[in-house]
Amino acid sequence: MVSGERAYAHVVELAQRIGSRTAGSDAEQAAADYIADQFTSYGYQPTLEPFEVKYYVEQASRLEVLSPEATTLEPRALSLSAAGEATGDLAAAGIGRPGDFPTEGMTGRVALLERGELTFSDKVANAAAAGVAAVIVYNNQPGSFRGDLGDESAIPAVGISQEEGQRLLGLLAQGPVTVRLSVEAGFEQGTSQNVIARPPDGRCEEVVGAHYDSVEAGPGANDNASGVAALLETARVLAAGGDREGVCLVAFGAEEVGLVGSQRFVANLDPDERQVLRGMVNLDMVGVGDQWQLIGSPELAQEVDAQASSLGLDPVATELPAGLGADQSNFIGAGIPAVLIHRFDDPRYHSAEDQVQFVEPRLLQEATELTLLALRVLEAP
Ligand code: BES
Ligand code: ZN
Repeated sequence: MVSGERAYAHVVELAQRIGSRTAGSDAEQAAADYIADQFTSYGYQPTLEPFEVKYYVEQASRLEVLSPEATTLEPRALSLSAAGEATGDLAAAGIGRPGDFPTEGMTGRVALLERGELTFSDKVANAAAAGVAAVIVYNNQPGSFRGDLGDESAIPAVGISQEEGQRLLGLLAQGPVTVRLSVEAGFEQGTSQNVIARPPDGRCEEVVGAHYDSVEAGPGANDNASGVAALLETARVLAAGGDREGVCLVAFGAEEVGLVGSQRFVANLDPDERQVLRGMVNLDMVGVGDQWQLIGSPELAQEVDAQASSLGLDPVATELPAGLGADQSNFIGAGIPAVLIHRFDDPRYHSAEDQVQFVEPRLLQEATELTLLALRVLEAP
């Protein structure tokens, strides 16, 4: 019997007792130990797959308007932005195409660009080529965003909300605006690991996975202690039913710094095992929200969707919103069918508010049942 309450106890352990579990941290290690102990208690012999992670950390970013009036905005460094500080006059330059920058007078200025059409990396490179000292990108839809440059930039670059962008444009319409922008950020290094519970004969025909690390900002109750809770409950139910054949259960480390754990797991599969691996089920953010979503390989997602009515559930097969990433994509990228089981939507994820009291035990139970269903689909398509 699947138990939402048993699963919920894991969320409390991971997100409340241990708390924020950033990749490479002692807390992430403590979470790995907890997960390994749980697998052991169900009769598995878990192994650890360690790896080094180097990751970008934004310590602090600041953006102040110095004149015509003093205000403080809330910037967020684009991931891999250069660290540094710049003070200068603001210059709006469209979306940041080369032709959007005036040919003169840009040296030392701070460019204000709209998000969209070009990659962040191209916008910032074009700005640097025009002589600009730092870049602010404002959102092209309401709210703020987490942008990623993909590569280290030459000059500091931050993102702000559409509302803040419009405020700056409003000031610029009245005359010169002087701003000071600073980004404090850099790289840190540490050890992370995957925690793997293999079946008695050792080979994975199906993989169930969930990442157990979190962002720095909060305790990661829904993202993703919830997925780990459903993973552990799946492991317990399979072991109790004597049904471990072919199923590997994997808790991935270092997802939030670039899907690193799942990438390592896929890279380390030996060729024979890859041959027999039929598919992967990823559990990420399954404890909050109004709607089950199945995201990934369309055939697999649609088949699980079609059979979910047997559980009294009505998920939708859909796609991950642009700009987001999750571990199933490393499997799909390696030619292995995979589906993300996800609950839409959680306004508190990646914040200090992602706490245990918002996670619903009933949803953890449903996520576990959907996982068992997806395993049956993979076993007998
Ligand atoms: N759980 C999120 C991804 C997610 C968010 C899926 C909302 C569905 C809806 C995941 O932990 C995450 O934040 N991933 C990063 C991946 C990046 C570091 C490669 C992301 O999307 O920014
Ligand atoms: Zn996640």
